[in-house]
Amino acid sequence: MPDWGNLLAQDASRMVEALRSFPEQIERALGLACRVPNNLQGFKNVVVLGMGGSAIAGDLLARFSTVPVVTVRDYELPTWVNSDTLLIAISYSGETEETLSAFREGLRRTRRAVALTTGGALAALCEERDIPWVPVPPGFQPRAALAFLLFPLLGCLSRLGYVRDDPARVAAALRGLRDACVPEHQANPAQDVAQTLFGRIPVIYGAGITVPVAYRWKTQINENAKQPAYWAELPELCHNEIVGYELAGKVFAQGIVLFLRSSFDHPRVARRVEILKEVLSSRGLAFREVWGQGETALAQALWLLYFGDWVSFYLALLNGVDPTPVRPIQELKKRLKETAGSG
Ligand code: F6R
Repeated sequence: MPDWGNLLAQDASRMVEALRSFPEQIERALGLACRVPNNLQGFKNVVVLGMGGSAIAGDLLARFSTVPVVTVRDYELPTWVNSDTLLIAISYSGETEETLSAFREGLRRTRRAVALTTGGALAALCEERDIPWVPVPPGFQPRAALAFLLFPLLGCLSRLGYVRDDPARVAAALRGLRDACVPEHQANPAQDVAQTLFGRIPVIYGAGITVPVAYRWKTQINENAKQPAYWAELPELCHNEIVGYELAGKVFAQGIVLFLRSSFDHPRVARRVEILKEVLSSRGLAFREVWGQGETALAQALWLLYFGDWVSFYLALLNGVDPTPVRPIQELKKRLKETAGSG
């Protein structure tokens, strides 16, 4: 049994505080929904521009919106973006060059636009072009500010009748999970899953509403726990990835599959999971399942996401690293700045 009290000293930058207050951040963030102006209405599709911890908000929005939402993680926009498009630029720092480049291009095609940021060049661009922007609270790592990047948008689209579940019901559903996952809590389910993943290479499987959540688990394990992790989605993985199991015992002995499950899984997906578990077992490959809780699909997705954030936090502690810093990302951005492009 790890000495969690001692291991907590690894969290020098206090990621635990951002994790602990996630349900309250959601409530605060819903209050920011009013900063997204109503006069953007009349759009036929939504394009969210962002990278990394900011972009995941677009993927989640896409799963729960009743209008088409596409996330663009690139310098350039798809050709079909036009004046019917609502353009949403999300960059926590406001300095991400891909997002700025795509937003500049988008503003030449549509006047329906809004940004979410703490400031930086993105806020300056909005001020210059008279584009509304939602001020996001500073002081977080972008990936730890997800509540402020997602919920103003969910709240706004919900007000317009474009969200399938009520975002106002999510925070309450997450409080119980928070209480179970905080470091003070014994018999902690997040610590338990982190111990299962420790020393292994996690492969996270999602389906439907849990697809963006599986990706979030992978990126949180990368950034918080500083180790490799992979992800794939059902049912697609049944058409390719499973063939790779044949030699996985030899070349991927450290691998462990983690199924993210929801009562909203399609029944045929649920059946596929049962078969996959048998196949994995027969090949001696490790797996584990985590079930989301909550009354709505949105609540279950956020429950699984929040749980994954805690797991990646405890995995960082087991790995002996501070969850917060992301030096390789900063180093790369710095080197790119030295050879500044058109941005
Ligand atoms: C850091 C993180 C990164 C950033 C990404 C884009 O916590 O999650 O993935 O989100 O480098 O930066 P921003 O969000 O400032 O546009």
